[in-house]
Amino acid sequence: MRKYHIHTFGCQMNEHDSEIIAGILEERGFQATDSPDDADLIIFNTCCVRENPERKVYGRLGDLKKRKMANPDLIIGVAGCMVQQPGEVERITKRFPHVDLVIGTMNIHELPDLLDQVEAGHKAYRILEEDPEEGAGVMEGLPIRRVPGVSAWVSIIYGCNNFCSYCIVPYVRGRERSREFQDIVNEVKRLGQEGFKEVVLLGQNVNSYGHDLQDGRDFADLLRAVDKTPGIARIRYMTSHPRDFTDKLIETIASSETVCEHFHLPLQAGSNKVLARMNRGYTLEHYMDLVSKIRKAVPECSITTDLIVGFPGEDEDDFAETMRAVEEIRFDSAFTFVYSPRRGTAAASMPGQVPDDVKSRRIQELIDRQNEITQEINDTLQGRTVEVLVEGLSKTNPSMLSGRTRTNKLVVFPLYPGVTQGDLINVKITETRAWTQIGEVVSV
Ligand code: SAH
Ligand code: SF4
Ligand code: F3S
Repeated sequence: MRKYHIHTFGCQMNEHDSEIIAGILEERGFQATDSPDDADLIIFNTCCVRENPERKVYGRLGDLKKRKMANPDLIIGVAGCMVQQPGEVERITKRFPHVDLVIGTMNIHELPDLLDQVEAGHKAYRILEEDPEEGAGVMEGLPIRRVPGVSAWVSIIYGCNNFCSYCIVPYVRGRERSREFQDIVNEVKRLGQEGFKEVVLLGQNVNSYGHDLQDGRDFADLLRAVDKTPGIARIRYMTSHPRDFTDKLIETIASSETVCEHFHLPLQAGSNKVLARMNRGYTLEHYMDLVSKIRKAVPECSITTDLIVGFPGEDEDDFAETMRAVEEIRFDSAFTFVYSPRRGTAAASMPGQVPDDVKSRRIQELIDRQNEITQEINDTLQGRTVEVLVEGLSKTNPSMLSGRTRTNKLVVFPLYPGVTQGDLINVKITETRAWTQIGEVVSV
């Protein structure tokens, strides 16, 4: 049997696309392998949100040249966001002539065609340069080979219309397209029957869900419809935009049973001047107001965020405002990024690009302070008993089990008789850390 290996970069949307690519390949008779060395087909599912992941892909593609020379039957493919950038297909094929197949984010359903061409001895490149009037449409019924485990990803809306000035995603994922309400509800039901315990609803901005549909239902309605799906103990979603997080949505989450008490709300920056230049569509005051409404409606929730330092024009005062926001809001944790100029985005050509040494100093200061706050918040868990959904053996210590709280904190605890993957158990926290909490099982 021929074997395939997919190397995925980037966000959950890419991870989920890789599950679809895997599904298509398995329908074609390929078998998965963890090792690229014994694969007959290697696919890189790429990300271009910042420069780093891109550089890694180029490095890996370069490494494969020798293997392709030794084994001309090896098929090398590149998929994902990177290839959707203007001129990228030419760049890849020129620099890496050993690449056989390039496929865009909106073309995954065409993979079988492309493989036919490659197997007939041709190169096959296909990306969709989306017609903004038409949109790329929504593909239903593609095979999905999900990574086995407790949690399953479900796409609810593709693309993004926000055009935050730093961000490449709207260019490489096209305009917003919502899946039909009932298709999503049915998929979640099926996942419950298949034994998944948690569902993560995916979209670049899940709050936009339904705006482009005729039936008038929105993201809050969708959450209500999938809440209490038999078998599904927890519902999560990624990512919501602070601009259009409605009161209806807060109420729905507060009154739901299975939607988790975790809010990931990317703030990006604490300065209103920077937020406006980022085209985020909200002010710090709006954001703080939203956070207090959420904390009032859903006590004991966790709030996490994304922050960017070194956006063009960010001066010391602006950065100080991000630090102050972090101080006042007290996020449970934050993903922190150094601004990375992306070709074709508005911010890439803005004046006031911040020098690398300043960016490095700012990110370090931010990370250091946020880590302290994260530790302080986690310290309040000491001695408390929390509900944990068991994910399996700990990746770093296979003599321990690991799982997450509803607030999305990772908890590691010793093996316990009868406790296995997918169980909901009570764990008492015995030691707190910034990333992992240590605990012991108190009841099953
Ligand atoms: N759709 C999601 C996030 C997508 S990208 C949202 O809107 O929240 C994930 C994070 O990467 C963003 O929240 C942002 O903090 C960061 N990011 C995006 N583009 C970036 C860039 N050019 N430089 C640095 N960080 C960036
Ligand atoms: Fe990028 Fe903004 Fe869209 Fe998120 S909302 S994907 S940051 S443009
Ligand atoms: Fe990267 Fe594309 Fe996700 S650019 S972050 S993989 S949407």
